[in-house]
Amino acid sequence: VPSVGLVGWRGMVGSVLMQRMQDEGDFRLIDPVFFSTSNAGGTAPAFAEGAGPLQDAYDVETLAKLPIIVTAQGGGYTSEVYPKLRDAGWDGLWIDAASTLRMEESSIIVLDPVNRDVIDAGLSRGVRDFIGGNCTVSCMLMGLGGLFRNGLVEWGTSMTYQAASGGGARHMRELLNQFGSIHGVVAGNLADPASAILDIDRAVLAQQKNPAMDASQFGVPLAGSVIPWIDADLGNGQSKEEWKAGAETNKILGKDTTEGTRIPFDGLCVRIGAMRSHSQALTLKLTEDLSVAEIENLIDQDNQWATVVPNTKEATLQGLTPVAASGTLEIPVGRIRKLEMGPEYISAFTVGDQLLWGAAEPLRRMLLIATG
Ligand code: HSE
Repeated sequence: VPSVGLVGWRGMVGSVLMQRMQDEGDFRLIDPVFFSTSNAGGTAPAFAEGAGPLQDAYDVETLAKLPIIVTAQGGGYTSEVYPKLRDAGWDGLWIDAASTLRMEESSIIVLDPVNRDVIDAGLSRGVRDFIGGNCTVSCMLMGLGGLFRNGLVEWGTSMTYQAASGGGARHMRELLNQFGSIHGVVAGNLADPASAILDIDRAVLAQQKNPAMDASQFGVPLAGSVIPWIDADLGNGQSKEEWKAGAETNKILGKDTTEGTRIPFDGLCVRIGAMRSHSQALTLKLTEDLSVAEIENLIDQDNQWATVVPNTKEATLQGLTPVAASGTLEIPVGRIRKLEMGPEYISAFTVGDQLLWGAAEPLRRMLLIATG
């Protein structure tokens, strides 16, 4: 079995990845070598029975002995270590959750249920860098792959509702602390059914504006609010997250390399107070006037995880929320209907656990592909 270096396995994405690998028995297929940025010489995790001591994640010579390295350590680590490894002549496979190398011409963004053909073609022409996509893009394509892969999307917009986990573990804590602190200032009033709701509302707003309430991760309070900007300001009115939607969607589908095939895809990305599932509302212009039943069928049949939620209130409330999707690999897709603009215009709403299909799962599956 191949030796595989694992870096960043203790962080949030890394922990989800390790859990999925245990659940699926992947450790039987590899010989794991665990690396640490802070605790070299320490003991390997108990779930990987028989693994040797932790290796130094900055030790290029040790890393370079491995045919495959999987990292969820983050972009800073990739920027520092990856160039040194390649400069040292290492020609192994680099499987990475960070965005650093994603748009490089020499990289492939991995989402094999959607782009196995792109991955296979890359492997056979010697591509060595396989990078996980942006969480929102991966979840969207897992849900709507059936339309994109069949050339049925002329253009699309995605308006997102992104969970706190996309920012990181500290962001999730901050959100919960904010909810708690807001509840704290009105708990007494809330317990009294005769209290005036406008008094409660005033106290909530005062607490949200209270500089003493920690908003250091998001910059402004997220609990009881929304933040319509994610990632860097590109200076052209677009956020980096919004740019990724178009750039990565096309790259995953292999449309970045063939002139004239690009699908315009753009929208606004918004942070909301959900924990770990990203949602998005889509408007798509299709290339054909398909019936809703045909559209639903294409989506449902595309891969085993995309699941059509019937466009009724009852089914939507039960199956099409972050609470329903979190912790599962299911990608529910609902609210599919024709819009007033014309027969080719449809709406859809989709939800996905951004730590699973949005981060860990495509890497885990790429590792399986790489180990044959
Ligand atoms: N940029 C994403 C977010 C994280 O902030 O939600 C995962 O790609």
